Amino acid sequence: MTLVKVPAARDQVMALKRKSAPRPRWAPPSRFVTSCLAQTGNDRSGVAADFGSGYGRNTLAAAMQGWNIIAFDLDRNALTSLMTHYGMHRAELGGQITAVCADLSQRSPIRPATFALVMLIEYSIEIDVRAVISAVRTDGYLILETFQDRGENWRGLPSPGALHTLLGNEFDLLRYSETPCRQAESARCTTKVFARRHSHSL
Ligand SMILES: C[S@@+](CC[C@H](N)C(=O)[O-])C[C@H]1O[C@@H](n2cnc3c(N)ncnc32)[C@H](O)[C@@H]1O
Repeated sequence: MTLVKVPAARDQVMALKRKSAPRPRWAPPSRFVTSCLAQTGNDRSGVAADFGSGYGRNTLAAAMQGWNIIAFDLDRNALTSLMTHYGMHRAELGGQITAVCADLSQRSPIRPATFALVMLIEYSIEIDVRAVISAVRTDGYLILETFQDRGENWRGLPSPGALHTLLGNEFDLLRYSETPCRQAESARCTTKVFARRHSHSL
């Protein structure tokens, strides 16, 4: 497995510094994520990635399931908090966590066909979704969940069918749901995807 090469100065692997680390924050993982993780089978030979991991609630859930996982985010404080939490609970987790500070609006930190599991949960509209999807290797899983339809949030949500189109014919859709936003004119929807790649045509 080739690790993602992260080019810029701010894109550095985070080291755990207990003294200067911010107080760890912990929120329960997405219920959609935990139910999908339970269906990823027992093969943990590949590496997983949580893109836009934030404080890593879902990263930790995947590590709990035995995945070795890389958490990518732009927010250095969030990653430091995650690694502090990881350090405190390492013995309880089946998998290892690595944190990488990277700007995912650029395609460069994301290598195609790399990961056995890719998670993109409540992601920022700045993140390059195409590049993230391309990072799923053949037979790998994708768990994707948009943020909720709250206030003006709908403006950043995908159009109906948009993610379905992005997945193309290369994925088996194990679960796919779209919920239209309440603003009738918005033509946007919250979307949840659990899919498995069967081919790669890059
Ligand atoms: C709403 S949070 C979701 C965090 C996490 N996935 C979860 O479900 O708890 C969105 C995350 O995307 C990160 N983010 C936003 N723009 C980014 C970018 N260009 N590159 C990497 N991460 C980014 C933010 O720092 C933030 O942690």
